[in-house]
Amino acid sequence: MVSISKIALLLSLLLTTLFSLQLKGSEDEVVPSEVDNWLSFKVYVAISNFLVSKNLTVHCKDKHHDLGSHVLKYGETYDFGFIPNLFWRVTLYFCRFTWEGASHSFDVYNQKKNGCEECVWNILESGPCKVDRKHNQCYAWKD
Ligand SMILES: *[C@@H]1O[C@H](CO)[C@@H](O)[C@H](O)[C@H]1NC(C)=O
Repeated sequence: MVSISKIALLLSLLLTTLFSLQLKGSEDEVVPSEVDNWLSFKVYVAISNFLVSKNLTVHCKDKHHDLGSHVLKYGETYDFGFIPNLFWRVTLYFCRFTWEGASHSFDVYNQKKNGCEECVWNILESGPCKVDRKHNQCYAWKD
């Protein structure tokens, strides 16, 4: 496990970099696109209930965070954001999806496999579908 002080050190390094980039940007009147790039590391996950006329309970976690249980009516969306590990591709968020008569789990963000920045999922009875600007990609439940 990475120690807290190491994380604090990396965070302060990151913040210092951000701050100096911003200062540089305002001095030179350069659009601070580098700052945007840093912030774009943030990942957004949205999960919508597409189970026709059923409530969906969503419970998401990673190794260190339990985001708790959320009940979605049909058509409702639950979302969350996080900063993935910037140094090792180890961030993994998985959720358990439960509704009347069924319970499945699925990785909604796997940094090693598919580093989506906006991970938008529609949950159907047959499995989750990842919604993209261009197309939807649907998966079958594996458990
Ligand atoms: C879904 O949950 C709400 C309460 O949040 C409840 O009133 C409603 O009857 C439930 N709908 C179904 C289809 O179970």
